[in-house]
Amino acid sequence: MRTDAAAPTVKHLADYAPPDYEVETVRLVFALDPRETVVTAILSLRRREGAADDAPLVLDGEKLSLREVAIDGRNLGADQYEVSDSTLVIASVPAAFSLTTVVAIDPQANTALSGLYLSSGMFCTQCEAQGFRRITYYPDRPDVLSRFSVRIEAPKSVPVLLSNGNPGASGDLPGGRHFAEWDDPHPKPAYLFALVGGDLASLDDRFVTMSGREVTLRIFVHEKDLGRCAYALDALKRAMRWDEEVFGRQYDLDLFMIVAVDHFNFGAMENKGLNIFNAACVLASPETATDMDYETIEAIVAHEYFHNWSGNRVTCRDWFQLCLKEGFTVFRDQEFSADQRDRAVQRIKDVRRLWARQFPEDAGPLAHPVRPSSYVAIDNFYTATVYDKGAELVRMMKALVGAEAFRAGTDRYFEKNDGTAATVEDFVGAIEAASGRDLSRFMAWYAEAGTPVLRVEESREASGNGVTHTLTLTAEAGNRPVPVRLALIDEDGEAASERLVEVEGHANVVTEGVTPGAVASVLRGFSAPVRVERNLSVDERLKLARADTDPFSRWQAGYALAVDAALSLGGLGDLESPELVADELGAAIAKSVENEAFAPAFRAEVLRLPSLTDLARASRVIDPEKLQLGREVLRSRVLSYCRPVLESLHDGLASDEPYDPGALQAGRRALRNEALRLLLADADEAPARRALRQAEEADNMTDEAAATAALAHAPVAEREAALARFYDRWKDDALVLNKWFAWQAAYTGPGALEEVRALTEHPAFDKGNPNKVRALIGVFAMENLPTFHAADGSGYDFFFDFVSELDGRNPQVASRLLTATESWRRLEPLRRDLIEKKLRSLAERKGLSDNLYETAQRLVS
Ligand code: ARG
Ligand code: ZN
Repeated sequence: MRTDAAAPTVKHLADYAPPDYEVETVRLVFALDPRETVVTAILSLRRREGAADDAPLVLDGEKLSLREVAIDGRNLGADQYEVSDSTLVIASVPAAFSLTTVVAIDPQANTALSGLYLSSGMFCTQCEAQGFRRITYYPDRPDVLSRFSVRIEAPKSVPVLLSNGNPGASGDLPGGRHFAEWDDPHPKPAYLFALVGGDLASLDDRFVTMSGREVTLRIFVHEKDLGRCAYALDALKRAMRWDEEVFGRQYDLDLFMIVAVDHFNFGAMENKGLNIFNAACVLASPETATDMDYETIEAIVAHEYFHNWSGNRVTCRDWFQLCLKEGFTVFRDQEFSADQRDRAVQRIKDVRRLWARQFPEDAGPLAHPVRPSSYVAIDNFYTATVYDKGAELVRMMKALVGAEAFRAGTDRYFEKNDGTAATVEDFVGAIEAASGRDLSRFMAWYAEAGTPVLRVEESREASGNGVTHTLTLTAEAGNRPVPVRLALIDEDGEAASERLVEVEGHANVVTEGVTPGAVASVLRGFSAPVRVERNLSVDERLKLARADTDPFSRWQAGYALAVDAALSLGGLGDLESPELVADELGAAIAKSVENEAFAPAFRAEVLRLPSLTDLARASRVIDPEKLQLGREVLRSRVLSYCRPVLESLHDGLASDEPYDPGALQAGRRALRNEALRLLLADADEAPARRALRQAEEADNMTDEAAATAALAHAPVAEREAALARFYDRWKDDALVLNKWFAWQAAYTGPGALEEVRALTEHPAFDKGNPNKVRALIGVFAMENLPTFHAADGSGYDFFFDFVSELDGRNPQVASRLLTATESWRRLEPLRRDLIEKKLRSLAERKGLSDNLYETAQRLVS
């Protein structure tokens, strides 16, 4: 929190300097107590070679109450050090010495959920990026690696005491207390430190690595949740095997632990040997979790596990290099999911997410390079750009150098940088060295914000069958290499097989011997994160939607046409006769979803028409009423072509097999439930009764949630009954209730804002729990365009009040919520003026957290 009037400091990549002091070992002793935890830290420090002899020792520390400081066992007097809100400075220290500090902290008062805090009575930590400084005085930066040993003392009412690495001694202490020791042999930066203390049960298993190490796996949860851990454990074992097989990476300790906590600022955290997870990203049972929840759990368990190498064994030199671990690790988890499930469907989902979150970010005031060059609060940079675009950059490099050289490059990266804090240059350099390819111009992808545009023009020879495609990158994209996969498609499939074209600025691609009606399929598989501009007729687009042999591109052709049709139907696009297009699309969709040659999961994606947010992203102007109109007209026109197909899919795909979360069954349920969802576009009795019946009869959450959600979003008579039924059934299950909050947050019917406002007072709502805040306020602001952007400004009043209040309690979550406004400049003028006033007055408010201050400032700049 800034208490002074001065603007917070901006950090710059260009200012990087190595630390003056290194920490060889650190010993931490915790005496756990909810209100007054005492932390004793003994650091063995050594001045770095090359640092000035008189360099002061500057340690980070926030919200600590300092009790003692000693150097080599001798206590310092108050005149020998200086304490501020954020540092402890000792002006003169020897070249090598031991520093002891004793501080007290208050976990219960820690509502920011950064550092050591309490969640449902359990002690837990979150240290990335800068939470460790809220635990003890320390050089809290990722390039200071040290060996940690930890002792935790606590009352016996806190029976389970965990930290990183291997367990050591444990036993009783006087006064009803006990202790446990932990030792982590792998040097690590402070952000990977973790501690847990609570009354926890565990589900255990074992894994034998490919070189024969026996690893104990242990998932810790509240006793009541023990029955919901099996899937995460299974996903963990599959991830461990996959990383051995695909990247040659093995686990390196005898114990791997996951702990589920109820209050968590994001998904999960890769602390060495002790991953801490948002309970929503671990716990699943058929009755309480949807197929999508299972998919998310699988991906996040794998993601955090993969960080053991891409993040922990090789960490980041500074926080500007965040994409080094996050972009690479997202790439790894996406590849894992693709191998576990359907690769094409995985690609569709990953790209949809990139379009939904990263493209708008890159096109608005919050745009930043994959490797940012400056920040105020690093927590604001855990973004779709760093994560998801970061993953696309890794994917492009793989395409450019080929799979084999890429693997040689990652091997080299891990070997050369093991145990160190690396940079993006180290990663790209390893791929260059292994492939022999110069990637210097590729670095522009890391340094420039914004989505490049690729123009595609086509010219055909008057005589003969040659076609030339001219691919041109917009000038701002400079000369960075862009891998473009291209093929020609006619009704029978490929008229000319696929090529990988590397565009740097400009390329001409000549294809000979092409049948007259063949259409080029460009950027297949979304081979680069660019926006393609080209003039294709509706017929050509439909041809690709029918016949493209690349499943991603086949899906994309139809999806993009659906977006254009909906925008034009709402008066926001420029298709001529959009009604006709919608009809042709309806007929094409009906054909695809019945086509049994395509996997059900793929057909479900074809049926998943663009959401309001999808349309808003693609529209020059965001006018919620017009977007909604366009979407509704498109849905009912498509439905009029598909109704019988959808009814028969919904009937025919019903199954009484026992529930299995695997991709095969999940794909069939996805298709069946998309069919139901579209059937509900008729605010009619028959589909509503169909949905209500499904909700009542379902034996799994996927079907129950799909039916209830479809009803909750529609202004039908059955809506209330469906929501009431769901609440009644799940009122004691906080995780399941998040779904119930989210559905209502997205409701656009009459009285929607009042419903959401009332829900903030609901006994099951808890503004101290980020999952609840995201489910209700996050979904409201991100997805409920008509209500959030109500023309009278009521949605803005509600939202900005909520965010300002939340900032006093949890700045990270408040700041993240505010990013929901990032596309405000594209709103139609009336709303734009209203929201601009709100944003400006927030940005000028005194007493904002650094996090919210930075986001508000960037939004209006
Ligand atoms: N490293 C974690 C992950 O991606 C996320 C940490 C997010 N930290 C933050 N301050 N937002 O798995
Ligand atoms: Zn990560």
